[in-house]
Amino acid sequence: MAKIKKSAFVCGECGAEYPKWQGQCTSCKSWNVITQVNLGSANSSRNGRYDGFSGGRSTVQTLDDVEISAETRLPSGIHEFDRVLGGGFIPGSVILLGGDPGAGKSTILLQTMCLAAEDRPVLYVSGEESLQQIAGRAKRLGLPTGKIRMLTETSVEQVCEIADRENPEVIVIDSIQVMYMEGVDSSPGGVTQVRESAACLTRYVKTRGIVLIMVGHVTKDQSLAGPMTLSHIVDTQIMLSSTEDSRYRLMRTTKNRFGPVNELGVFVMTEKGLKEVRNPSAIFLSRAEKSSPGSLITVLWEGTRPLLVEIQSLVVESQYGNPRRLGIGIDQNRIAMLLAVLTKHGGLLVSDQDVFVNVVGGIKVNETSADLAVVLAIVSSFRNVCLQQDLFVFGELGLSGEVRPVANGEARIKEAAKHGFKKAIVPRANAPKSVGGIEIIGVGHLTEALDAI
Ligand code: TYD
Ligand code: MG
Repeated sequence: MAKIKKSAFVCGECGAEYPKWQGQCTSCKSWNVITQVNLGSANSSRNGRYDGFSGGRSTVQTLDDVEISAETRLPSGIHEFDRVLGGGFIPGSVILLGGDPGAGKSTILLQTMCLAAEDRPVLYVSGEESLQQIAGRAKRLGLPTGKIRMLTETSVEQVCEIADRENPEVIVIDSIQVMYMEGVDSSPGGVTQVRESAACLTRYVKTRGIVLIMVGHVTKDQSLAGPMTLSHIVDTQIMLSSTEDSRYRLMRTTKNRFGPVNELGVFVMTEKGLKEVRNPSAIFLSRAEKSSPGSLITVLWEGTRPLLVEIQSLVVESQYGNPRRLGIGIDQNRIAMLLAVLTKHGGLLVSDQDVFVNVVGGIKVNETSADLAVVLAIVSSFRNVCLQQDLFVFGELGLSGEVRPVANGEARIKEAAKHGFKKAIVPRANAPKSVGGIEIIGVGHLTEALDAI
């Protein structure tokens, strides 16, 4: 068997590993953060009994020889959660659930796991809360508590040993930041401990076909605390985040080896735990009674479904020499580009104006279909005119002012129609022959869209 290295030089910020000490981390550029760490003794997890890859019995095969087992997914019991996962948990897969404190990670896992435990063995390891706290919460939420197997433990070796006896199909680790491995030379929560613990648990479940769900905390800049390498280890990474309206929670996959990414699930936090929201457009549309300048509705495509959101813009004369362009929920560079197109092809001079664009409800726009709506919202604010309440707009804008079609145009229009919108400005190529009850204006250039409003 290959000689296993027992120590390494590891960056305390990002977890990058080096063969020898150096002053600056080449990967994250931080200074004086590299320290030598002990990666464990010879009988620890690296080549111990929980290492699934030890034994040297690997064989080489062609893909034809590989037996494909039918993909069975274990349902989580909550429809929105399943949709975000791509249909449920895959046996042998590792899921990282991230989110800020109070986002509801423990709550949603308790809810789903109490239900899942009715059908299959579940081991729930809590390193943060006492069993009294958890039991009290489960009772209050009215969850079935007779079958779920609970454990308070922070040692990875202990968890693996107990899992050997319990034979669970699902293991929950809440949270990976409090777990530690004996023999690894760093305190719990440190980069090395988190990475080694996650790697060991991953090896353990992969060889046994167990689903592993790990909770991970996020830091202020919304990245997962601990090593970046966590994202590489896991199959699926899900983030749970709060919105401006603190009752709502958005769940989004940022990585998924077994399903779609960027799928959005919406939940509402109630006194009875997290409840799914089946029709999210309705909550992001709770607009003021009277329309105001600079506000416009667009239809985004979130994973596999349309979502209606309000775009707000405010254009005010700049007090300083250097006008500001600020976007919340939308990329700043995109706004700068759209303003340039607007100046060149729409004849609107905003070089002495501050421009703010806000996507209401804490939603982040990560596609180009909102371009046209952003531009029209800016024009509406600049001219101080209200746009029609029942108007919605979508379409991508090119640098020469052309309006480009976007994917799933018809589905977007239907979603808006369902919510009572009566008038649409959309790319000409997206304009369907007829959709009952909606006046559709197909446009091919920015000037046509400006004429239409
Ligand atoms: P929790 O799941 O403990 O968050 P995390 O594990 O992500 O840190 O959720 C805690 C928050 O949720 C807390 O602010 C209280 C709130 N909450 C409710 O509003 N209703 C409930 O039924 C529960 C269980 C929690
Ligand atoms: Mg928690």
